[in-house]
Amino acid sequence: MVEVSTWRLRDYHDDDLDQVIQVWDESRQAGEPHPVFVVSEVIAAAREGQPAVVAVAGDELLGIAVAQIQAERAWVLLVALAARWRNRGVGSALIAELERRLRDLGVRRISALLPETVTGSTALENSGYRLQSGLTYYEKTEHLAAADAGLLAGLGGRMLSAGLWDVMAGMEREKRIIERRIVLPLAEPELANRYGVSPPKAVILFGPPGTGKTSFAKAVASRLDWPFVELFPSRLAVGDAGLAAALREVFAELAELESVLLFIDEVEEIAAARTVPMTGPGHGVTNELLKLIPGFREHDDRLLICATNSVRSLDQAFLRPGRFDYVIPVGPPDASARAAIWSRYLGPPTDAVDIARLVAASEMFTPADIEFAARKGAQAAFEREVVHRERRPAGTADYLTAIADTRPTLTGQAISEFDEDIENYARI
Ligand SMILES: Nc1ncnc2c1ncn2[C@@H]1O[C@H](COP(=O)(O)OP(=O)(O)OP(=O)(O)O)[C@@H](O)[C@H]1O
Ligand SMILES: [Mg+2]
Repeated sequence: MVEVSTWRLRDYHDDDLDQVIQVWDESRQAGEPHPVFVVSEVIAAAREGQPAVVAVAGDELLGIAVAQIQAERAWVLLVALAARWRNRGVGSALIAELERRLRDLGVRRISALLPETVTGSTALENSGYRLQSGLTYYEKTEHLAAADAGLLAGLGGRMLSAGLWDVMAGMEREKRIIERRIVLPLAEPELANRYGVSPPKAVILFGPPGTGKTSFAKAVASRLDWPFVELFPSRLAVGDAGLAAALREVFAELAELESVLLFIDEVEEIAAARTVPMTGPGHGVTNELLKLIPGFREHDDRLLICATNSVRSLDQAFLRPGRFDYVIPVGPPDASARAAIWSRYLGPPTDAVDIARLVAASEMFTPADIEFAARKGAQAAFEREVVHRERRPAGTADYLTAIADTRPTLTGQAISEFDEDIENYARI
């Protein structure tokens, strides 16, 4: 008996979903690249009333074509056919019907982006579509779900740009420790797991002002491609009870993000030793933070980084192992780190500048001090031209003068205290 092939075209209905998925799976060939438009996008478009046509014979769904309109252009999101209905004109009919609707809606140009060998491509070629060779398709996935994006904005957080890690100049010792202990286990959790290494959930960075603690925290978020949220205790709320409650609320919201790096700068403000009378926020807040950390640690894909200039003033309970995985010193830059930081801030024509002399002259300088002195030197050369009409780029002498005019952040006392702190508190 000859099979009766009375099929017809109609609009897509929600009830078609199961069969659409089945036909779609069937029409994909083994080893075929991933489709550009994924199931959820295609279905969402069809549900939103974008043109979507199915071919049916009785209750059986034979094929589907879906498009999405953007002004005068439409993209064909999907053309899929059940295996046994190929080469029988169903594909071309679906496309013709889709085109008719698109035309009625004012579309002038129809594009399709398909894996090379896919079923729909024959139907497209038969329907007069021209293959544009030589185009390459690029794709980048935004890790942040839309729901997270709103939540993140509410928390004042954001995604940082890629490459912040690479612009950290020098500081090789700190970079090595932070990369190995923090970044890599979080970036490669399965590998870490195989060696019984549990990725860190909370760490403290301590060291003199301006040595790069905040920059490191941001660089870690950038490396992990996680959203960065900075908590400013002073901005949370007024009053002790209010502050503790506000802290709780922030942590509850953070728990909903898929991944997050939470940064608390100057953490001594809210976690100072409870024995000393506090001026700012009271002990209730320290207690609250201590209580919140274990809950924070329970989730995967999150990291708390606390930074402080004064690790010795932190509450001892705060520092106890179990809360923070590592307590990492971020120290003053040594000579080679200073050389790297100077070359970074000097900008392009650096051959006229004797960096070794600048390095030697900036011994007690932090990266922040070097940044400031470099700007001062460049400013002097700029003013020389603007004011005195003397055209000469900033040279060694300009920078040495700038160094002499810059008060270094570090003092002998600060460095010996830092060395003591490393002795007493560092855990790496
Ligand atoms: N390794 C580095 N290479 C280049 N610039 C750096 C480096 N470290 C810090 N800087 C620059 O120095 C400045 C101060 O750095 P940052 O704010 O990270 O220091 P900090 O330790 O957090 O300071 P504070 O204790 O005052 O909060 C920033 O402008 C930063 O860009
Ligand atoms: Mg800082």
